[in-house]
Amino acid sequence: MSIKEFYEQHYLNDDLLKKTGFNPYYVNIQSGLNDKLIIDGVNFINLATNNYLGIANDKRIKEATINAINKYGLSLCATPIASGGSDLYLSLSQKISDFIGLESSIIYPSCYQANIGLFPVIADKNDVVIIDQFSHSSLIEGVKSVGCKIRPYLHNDIDSLEKNLKNSTNYSQIFVITESVFSTEGSIAPFADIVKLCEKYDAIPVIDDSHGIGVIGKNGKGILEYAGIKDYQGIYTASLGKSIANLGGIISGKKSFIDYIKYHSSHLIYSTAITPSILAGIEKAICIIEEEFEVLGKKMWKYRNKLRDALIKLEYNIKPSSAPITSIVTGSSENTLLFAKMLYSKKILATPFIYPSVPENMGVIRLIAGANLEEQTIDRAIEMFKEIKQIGI
Ligand SMILES: Cc1ncc(COP(=O)(O)O)c(C=O)c1O
Repeated sequence: MSIKEFYEQHYLNDDLLKKTGFNPYYVNIQSGLNDKLIIDGVNFINLATNNYLGIANDKRIKEATINAINKYGLSLCATPIASGGSDLYLSLSQKISDFIGLESSIIYPSCYQANIGLFPVIADKNDVVIIDQFSHSSLIEGVKSVGCKIRPYLHNDIDSLEKNLKNSTNYSQIFVITESVFSTEGSIAPFADIVKLCEKYDAIPVIDDSHGIGVIGKNGKGILEYAGIKDYQGIYTASLGKSIANLGGIISGKKSFIDYIKYHSSHLIYSTAITPSILAGIEKAICIIEEEFEVLGKKMWKYRNKLRDALIKLEYNIKPSSAPITSIVTGSSENTLLFAKMLYSKKILATPFIYPSVPENMGVIRLIAGANLEEQTIDRAIEMFKEIKQIGI
């Protein structure tokens, strides 16, 4: 193939963006995540980010980050296994483990990297992975990379999972993979039941708690607290870029297993360590969540309920959800982008999910109202949804 032909094959098909006259991707944000968000010089209501507890622009976290920069500089310019692992790395791994209630953790530069880094270490072609059909791309790419048998089960459907477990006898290892809170709709996995089934069928549970950590559970400690699971024996991963409001991803579990990962995961060993300033920011964020979850969590839930109740009253088609995520069903990719465009014209930033992020014609607009917002901002957003309903889209 000539280089000309190569570039003719690898180009962005922007027909949909042209058809709708709107591109919601890679927005040009010019402020931090305050009550208002500035995009191209204009104030927006931000219902698009995963800043659940509203701490992404917290002064105390920024101070901790700046102090760490003053002490350690910008980067240790090495992988964690070489000389990239500061004392902050060790103390934070322990703090996170204690927070979620597991023995040990390892921190990757992102949860995407953690998820794709996990499976090549633990699975191979003799194994089977039974995975919730709506699982995140990072989990799917991770399991695809090892060439094992992959069996999707129906979303959050315990019977479908058990059927698959019954049919998975001829494999060396069986893994069951799910997210805790599913980020496009806000459904929560019946994880206590999933763990019980894993015990029954000698399968190893893997949970991605990216949208659960800092969000669900009485103290915001995530899925294990929420589901009342003590002494979890499986594998746990989570992003530190959502409620924790920073960057990074963890794999957590039994200490002997995490020690093994530390010395075997290429995605960790051969990648520059997350910087000390980020680690310091994460540590401060967890301290704040430990001390203030009651207040921040209450605000997050209050906004979620207010927005959700109003949208239901306005007869929007809302997905069932048990999390602080409210998704409006918009169907086709075109409708979804047109709805997002209408919201954008009303100065509301929301997240449109279209195929292939969701199955074809199952587009949604996701709304997350973080605790950083003022209550009157939520009221204003509701007014805008009312106006849109009157215009009729
Ligand atoms: C369920 C889930 N897992 C993993 C990730 C990836 O996390 P990170 O942004 O830390 O790479 C995301 C984020 O989009 C996610 O929603």
